[in-house]
Amino acid sequence: TKLKVYAQQMGAPLGDLFGIFFEDLNHAADGGLYAELVQNRSFEFDPIDHPSYHALTAWEKAERGGGRAELSIASESPFHPKNPHYAVIEIIEPGEGVGLSNTGFNTGIPVKEGEHYLFSLYARRSDSFSTPVRVLIEDSKGAVCASAELTVESYQWQKYEAVLTAGCTDNACRLVILTGGQGSLEVDLVSLFPQKTYLGRRNGLREDIAVLLADMKPKFMRFPGGCLVHDGSLNPDDRNSMYRWKNTIGELAARPARRNNWQYNQTLGLGYYEYFQFCEDIGAKAIPVLPGGYDPHHKRIVPLDELGPWIQDALDLIEFATGDATTEWGGIRSSLGHPEPFGLEYIAIGNEEVGEPFFERYPYFHKAIKERYPHIQVINSSGPFAAGGEYERGWASAREHGSDLVDEHYYQSPEWFLANMDRYDSFKGDEPKVFLGEYASWGNTYYNALVEAAFMTRLERNAHAVGLACYAPMLCNVDYVNWKPDMIWFNNHEVFGTPNYYVQKLFMNHQGDRVLRIAAENLPEKPEPVQEPVKGSIVLAAEKSAVTYSNITLTNNLTGEQKMIEANVELNDTEGTVSKEEEQRSFLLGETDWSDYTLRLTARKTGGVRAFLIFFGMQ
Ligand code: AHR
Repeated sequence: TKLKVYAQQMGAPLGDLFGIFFEDLNHAADGGLYAELVQNRSFEFDPIDHPSYHALTAWEKAERGGGRAELSIASESPFHPKNPHYAVIEIIEPGEGVGLSNTGFNTGIPVKEGEHYLFSLYARRSDSFSTPVRVLIEDSKGAVCASAELTVESYQWQKYEAVLTAGCTDNACRLVILTGGQGSLEVDLVSLFPQKTYLGRRNGLREDIAVLLADMKPKFMRFPGGCLVHDGSLNPDDRNSMYRWKNTIGELAARPARRNNWQYNQTLGLGYYEYFQFCEDIGAKAIPVLPGGYDPHHKRIVPLDELGPWIQDALDLIEFATGDATTEWGGIRSSLGHPEPFGLEYIAIGNEEVGEPFFERYPYFHKAIKERYPHIQVINSSGPFAAGGEYERGWASAREHGSDLVDEHYYQSPEWFLANMDRYDSFKGDEPKVFLGEYASWGNTYYNALVEAAFMTRLERNAHAVGLACYAPMLCNVDYVNWKPDMIWFNNHEVFGTPNYYVQKLFMNHQGDRVLRIAAENLPEKPEPVQEPVKGSIVLAAEKSAVTYSNITLTNNLTGEQKMIEANVELNDTEGTVSKEEEQRSFLLGETDWSDYTLRLTARKTGGVRAFLIFFGMQ
């Protein structure tokens, strides 16, 4: 018998459906994707970032061969006021060298034999201008692995650079700066990068992590957060300010190392220019997220008559990305090294801003952007699922103001995903589209990944309503975990993708243009007998209340044969809002003929009940 299979076009084009989301939590940027090897490079760590932090976190005094020194922090005359603190080494007894050393991230600074490392610092000294400053990479046993010498020539701040070549391979090295002579040596913004960054870019990205992301072939990248965007004070000059993109571009010394809302410090070395550059490098469209003038965590609200600069930030960002070099912000981009526009199609205002102050402010952003840049797609924010009525409030606001997309977020159990496969089936194509800006099932197991894959097929099928989707969070340093599960895990020298990563990659690498409907004719009457009977498994999930299942039967609709599946299962949804528990029953499905089956189950108590039949071991 010849089997005929037809594929028909159906559904909407998939467009930019699957992308990635970068947020600097779990040390995703500093100590992660951003290749800087020195931790607390500008001595700006502060208890406001984390209660255990201070200006010398990750630094130690170094005294060699009888040397003695005082190491302290000053802020009277910094190189740049945006990073006001610097280290002062008062030489008491030079011995064989005095100074300071940095412990890097995780186990230390990782180096590979034969590879080059770019060192730089700002320095000045009060005396002994011809005494060399030695820069060393010491291995985990204290032996010198690489070294260079600099001459700090004056009491004016100057930038000094050197290239160090590693003579060892060790993942737990220290960067050591030593001097002799007398007086004091003052240093700031001490930096060490591997020369080998992703595509060799200066101030670049860690190659192994970036390659994993590039390999996914994402259609877009959402950045820089997340709660990171809206958590903070309203004054852009506070070290505690909300994430303001203009603070993140230009020379590194002018980017204020600041409190990251995930309880650490972020240098902003990975800033908006670098984000746009990375998007361009991996062929992903940039989707920046800007604060909407409201911090929902601390209820800080920008008065309506002071919203102007916040809206201007959005307009200037669009010019930064799309304007030619003759425009003000296009000119700034050009001066930073990118004369051609990066391009921009989407901009998001707000992230999970559940609260009326946001919805009061959103329309001002929307109107100003659409008036000046009608082709830019503006994304509204609907908050996290199950946060209450606000989810609907975001949709209402989007419909009222004509947002192009609405950002929905959900972190739920696998059963919730199975129970909500049909969430978008009823969404209409002529409304704002869904931007599923954050989602994950709770776990990094194969089962989680499988469920997410199943869910993604339904996103594809509903591409008329779902415009964009990205898993979250993306990156996690194993020693600095704020949130899990995460898609990619790493330490200071290794990185690996979870099953969830491979699912995402699979869908991105093989994203089609449209969903096809598959129909088959002439199915053989008797397929080849299978060696092993097919095994089935039923996944049961409860929604909204406690449910007891019993009397589960599976009927072969052709033969009428019935299988009783032993089950007397109690599912208790304790929170009363979403499905929480799951039971599996395996059974043998001995038939070798084609058939369709009906699953019947009796619930002893009522509630929102969903059941799914999943076959494993099909031949
Ligand atoms: O992805 C982690 C966090 O989850 C994001 O910062 C926030 O948007 C959500 O609550």
